[in-house]
Amino acid sequence: MLRDSFGRQITDLRLSVTDRCNFKCVYCKPQLEGRWVQRSKLLTFEELERVARILVSMGIEKIRITGGEPLVRQNIEQLIARIARIEGIRDLCMTTNGYVLAEKGDALRRAGLRRVTISLDTLNAEKFTAITGKDYFARVLEGIDAAVALGFQPVKVNAVIMRDVNDDELIAFARFAREKNVVFRFIEFMPLDADHQWSKNRVVTLDEMVEKISSYEKLVPLPAHSISETARRFQFEDGVGEIGIIAPVSRPFCGHCSRIRMTADGKIRTCLFSILEHDVRALLRGGGSDDAIKGFIEQVVDQKEERHHINDPDFVQPERDMSLIGG
Ligand code: 5AD
Ligand code: SF4
Repeated sequence: MLRDSFGRQITDLRLSVTDRCNFKCVYCKPQLEGRWVQRSKLLTFEELERVARILVSMGIEKIRITGGEPLVRQNIEQLIARIARIEGIRDLCMTTNGYVLAEKGDALRRAGLRRVTISLDTLNAEKFTAITGKDYFARVLEGIDAAVALGFQPVKVNAVIMRDVNDDELIAFARFAREKNVVFRFIEFMPLDADHQWSKNRVVTLDEMVEKISSYEKLVPLPAHSISETARRFQFEDGVGEIGIIAPVSRPFCGHCSRIRMTADGKIRTCLFSILEHDVRALLRGGGSDDAIKGFIEQVVDQKEERHHINDPDFVQPERDMSLIGG
C-alpha cells in the first residue's frame, strides 16, 4: 500500500497520455505547435501499461486517463483495453474535451472504459469559441449525447467557473444537468493557466455558486462517496439531477488527497502544484526492474507535498500548465 509521509493513502493515478490538444482553452493553453514534447519522449503504450500495472500492484485502484486531450493519441482504445485488463483496477475513467467522443465513444466503451468526464465551460456557441479557440460547440454537445446514449455511467460534465467569463451561466448549467441526465461539476478556477491570467478575484467560490444556483432550485448536500472525494455533492430539492462543486481554492481538500499524477513524458508529480518532477521514464528505458521502479515510486510518494499554497501571500504558480500535467 502506498502511503505518504502525512499518512495519506495514495489510491488514484491521473495518467496523461499526451500533452497535445486540439483546443486552446484560455485557462489551460496547450503548448504552441512545435513546442510539444517530442514524440520519442512520450511513454509508449507498453511503458504506460507497465507503470500502471506496477502502480496497481502498489495500491492504486483508480486510473483517470488525461492529456492534453487523451483522444488525440492514436489508437488510445488499445491502451484502454490493456489497462482495463490489469488485475486489481477498480475504476478506469477519462477526462476529455469531447470533440471525437461521438466517433470514438463506442470503441472506448468496448475497450473497457466505464466513465467519462467531458469539459464544457459554456452553453453559448460564440462564447465556446472564445474560450476554447475552436468552433466546436455543436460537436462537443453531440459527444455528450453520445456518451449518455452509450451508457457511460455516470457521464460528468466539468466547467471551470471564471468570474466575468461564465459565472452568468451557473443556472443554465444546472438546468442542463437536469435535462441531460449528466452530473455537472463546477470547478473553482485555479492558478494553472499558461497565461497567468488567474487572480483571486476571478475565482467564484463554492458559497457564491451554491447561493446563485439555489435561487433557481434549492440544493441539498449529499454525503461524500469517500473521504478523498474532491467534489462536494448536491442534489436538487425535487430529486432531479446532481451537481458537484470542486473548491480547491475556497475549501482546500489537500488533507485527504489520494492522488498522484504522471505526465505524458513519464514524470511523476505528487501535486498539481509541484515544483519538482520525478523521472520514471529514465528508469523504464534504462533497464530498471519492477522492484527498482517500485522503490523509486515509494520514495517519490514519501515526498508528496502537504498542501497547495494558493491562499498564501507568497504563492508562486508552477511552471508547467495544465496541458502538461493533465486534469
Ligand atoms: N482551473 C481549474 N480547473 C482546470 N482544469 C484545467 N485548467 C484548470 C484551471 N486553471 C481542469 C478542467 C478541465 C480539465 C482538463 O482540467 O476541469 O475540464
Ligand atoms: Fe485542451 Fe483540456 Fe487544456 Fe482545453 S483544458 S486546452 S481541452 S487540454
